[in-house]
Amino acid sequence: MSKTELFFKSELMQNDIDEAYEAIIEESESGEVGYYLLPEDMQTLTEIRQFCENYDFDAIKNVVVIGIGGSSLGTKAIDYMLAHTENRNDKNLIFMENVDPNEIKHNLKNVNFEESFFIMISKSGGTIETTSHVKYILDRYDISLGDAAFVKHFAIITDPLSPLDQFAKEHTLTTFHLPLNVGGRFSVFTPVGLLPLMILGYDVEKILFGARELKESFFAKNEDTLIKKAYFYASSQENLPINVLFSYSSSFKYFNDWYVQLWGESLGKINRDGKKVGLTPIALVGSVDQHSFLQLIIEGPLNKTVTMIKVEDFNNEMKIPDITIPHLEKTNFINEHSFNELINAQCDATMESIKDQGVDVDMITLNGLDEKSVGEMIFYYELLTSLTGYFLNVNTYNQPGVELGKVILQKKFEK
Ligand code: PA5
Repeated sequence: MSKTELFFKSELMQNDIDEAYEAIIEESESGEVGYYLLPEDMQTLTEIRQFCENYDFDAIKNVVVIGIGGSSLGTKAIDYMLAHTENRNDKNLIFMENVDPNEIKHNLKNVNFEESFFIMISKSGGTIETTSHVKYILDRYDISLGDAAFVKHFAIITDPLSPLDQFAKEHTLTTFHLPLNVGGRFSVFTPVGLLPLMILGYDVEKILFGARELKESFFAKNEDTLIKKAYFYASSQENLPINVLFSYSSSFKYFNDWYVQLWGESLGKINRDGKKVGLTPIALVGSVDQHSFLQLIIEGPLNKTVTMIKVEDFNNEMKIPDITIPHLEKTNFINEHSFNELINAQCDATMESIKDQGVDVDMITLNGLDEKSVGEMIFYYELLTSLTGYFLNVNTYNQPGVELGKVILQKKFEK
């Protein structure tokens, strides 16, 4: 299990902590919010495993995920965090997200249709980016909707009875469903993430196990720190409106993106008291961003909280060799130490320097980066988001703000 240390005081009485536990347990039991149940959903896992066992994935070189936002970011985050592990096979994972024509061209440059498996993911079923990509792929590879090749090389993941679901049924396409009560950005433990991750060889059951361990601990009311942290963020959001995640491993690059989406889309809202609230998410990778954003944290306005993520054991003994470079002798203090030691010492040093400036910091330490710890991290952030939403008094699970732009877009193309 990972540990979180808070280096700030969160003044919350025990009965308020208990109320927060109860609110989340009630939300989970109400059936309105389904993501809490995903870590123990073994039935979906079995269905996906059966499909993967029966499909000839040996012939597939490219797994192309066509989806955006909650339909892609979780998978991308997990794959990048686990890419160094033994289970990952050598299939290419390609994401068709943005409608940038140059990126589309680049993404499909070496994609041979016969060697590729396309997963079209859209909860609503009608997202313009996703449908546009699919239309382009069909045209580019000269595939008609009725072709056997379409049925063989495509799978669909969507809500039951969505327009896409109806289309998939009519064309006998392989289809997996998301539960209706699981929102896109909370859906990585549904087929949305489980299918591509299983095709890539990951031990998906272990990912769910990591999430389940944290869930059980929270539901047994052993995670007060999580509640204190959420309360601190929500209660200080006017003075500390920026939430910085400083992750000390390049493997967190897309986890950071996933966090920005989860945090931004879930918490930036007009709350139930009619007030505009939210915490602006900023995500950094250490040590790289010590050389860019850190200056602003240290000497800029005291309007941020910072969470550091540290990986204790990278399972990699690589060392800085004992070489003296003339004139650069002052760098010799690190010779013969491991890169693992160096990055973690940098994380600690940055954390101390930030704390010394009076910035409110906490540190999450993971034992290592494996399937279990990654499952735990994802669920940790989902719970933290739900709890912060509870304290901010918002509906964490909708996104009314993004609809307006879609309406305006359609008008722009109306003749
Ligand atoms: O989290 C969300 O709800 C959004 O980011 C959606 O995932 C995103 O807009 C894509 O929607 P859909 O899956 O319906 O295509």
